[in-house]
Amino acid sequence: MPDTLKIEQRSQGVVHHDYGRGLGDLMLETGKALIRNPETRHHLLGTYAAFTDAIPPRSRPHSDLEKTVRFHDRSMPITLASPIMLAAGGNKFAEHLPAFSSLGFGAVTVGSATSGARDGNPFRPRMRMLPRDRSMSNSMGLNNPGIETIATEVDKALGASHRRKLALGISVADTPGVEDADAKIADVLATFRRAYRAADYIELNVSCPNTGENRMDTQEAFLTDLLREIMEARKSLAPKKAVLVKISPDLSARALDANLQIISDAGVTGLVLFNTFPGDKARYLRMATPEADILPVTSAGAKGGLSGRILYKNTLPAVQYIRRQLPKLAIFACGGVDHGAKVLDLLDAGADAVQCYTVLAYRWNAVRKMNRELLDSMRARGIQSLDGYGPSA
Ligand SMILES: Cc1cc2nc3c(=O)[nH]c(=O)nc-3n(C[C@H](O)[C@H](O)[C@H](O)COP(=O)(O)O)c2cc1C
Repeated sequence: MPDTLKIEQRSQGVVHHDYGRGLGDLMLETGKALIRNPETRHHLLGTYAAFTDAIPPRSRPHSDLEKTVRFHDRSMPITLASPIMLAAGGNKFAEHLPAFSSLGFGAVTVGSATSGARDGNPFRPRMRMLPRDRSMSNSMGLNNPGIETIATEVDKALGASHRRKLALGISVADTPGVEDADAKIADVLATFRRAYRAADYIELNVSCPNTGENRMDTQEAFLTDLLREIMEARKSLAPKKAVLVKISPDLSARALDANLQIISDAGVTGLVLFNTFPGDKARYLRMATPEADILPVTSAGAKGGLSGRILYKNTLPAVQYIRRQLPKLAIFACGGVDHGAKVLDLLDAGADAVQCYTVLAYRWNAVRKMNRELLDSMRARGIQSLDGYGPSA
């Protein structure tokens, strides 16, 4: 279990750079009042990206934000027009991928993908806004069109995306309901192999709190076996691409250290820190939102995942801690990033790149604004360019 005191203690000194609200944000609020279902709005994100991309002049991140992430294990580097990536879940269907560069992103992690298509959890609503915390609760349950469709779309989009310095990753997840350990490993391996052929980098989602199943990052023996098989499979695949494991932010200090040991022993390229925070444990985050407003996922009452601003106080100190423990692992920091100055704070803490998703529901043109804030923070500190800045330099 997470330790409240630890989250409170660790988060001392974390700065929540705040942002003002302009006309665009008012328009966003009006849009939310008109389209009340957050899931419908979430489906419109790709269309919005395509629309933005179609209207000249196409905006691109400032060239000083460009960053090539080089990996210690000599995986293929990825070149990002901005260090801000769209986190998994923001584009589950691999739609309009190159257009996301016009929103300001330097990469998109597509998925999570499972071996076959899935509708996700059967109940509605599956997403709820928690505006008092600028956060969100979701219980989507890994809805996606399956790895074959996702990988085919990524294949098609790769050339146009690379011309815009937009890297494309695929997040790979296990199929809920596969009980037998060997069958589960075979299932993830098959998805991994197909994803690997298409994407620039792979994320292994071992921490989904939304399916009602035991998460893989809480089953240490299984995780050890799974990562051994995945990394063994990578040896026979060329070129060598980065494989990052995405873990949950609620691991206890002991479980986190155990996961780090397993991950570094397996020779994994890096970590994505973190997935959503299990809603069952919302009290540890001391949210303004009452716990009763967090969605249940199963009839047994298990709750989905929390995302957004409330997570940041855990994300930053965790990146600092893990960078100290494992200086050679790549880190994509994720959880509550909603301001460009936070991006620089995370890069300073040791992140190689930063991911976000929930901020798109609270800030109009969020990533373009965050890119500008990042550039302003760099200029204020005399940093000329991000290439060559940070741990991957
Ligand atoms: C609606 C929704 C769906 C998500 N789906 C996935 C997913 O399929 N795979 C995954 O690894 N993470 C998923 N996530 C988690 C995000 O990638 C990210 O880790 C989390 O939202 C924290 O970042 P944020 O605070 O910037 O949103 C999802 C998040 C949301 C809000």
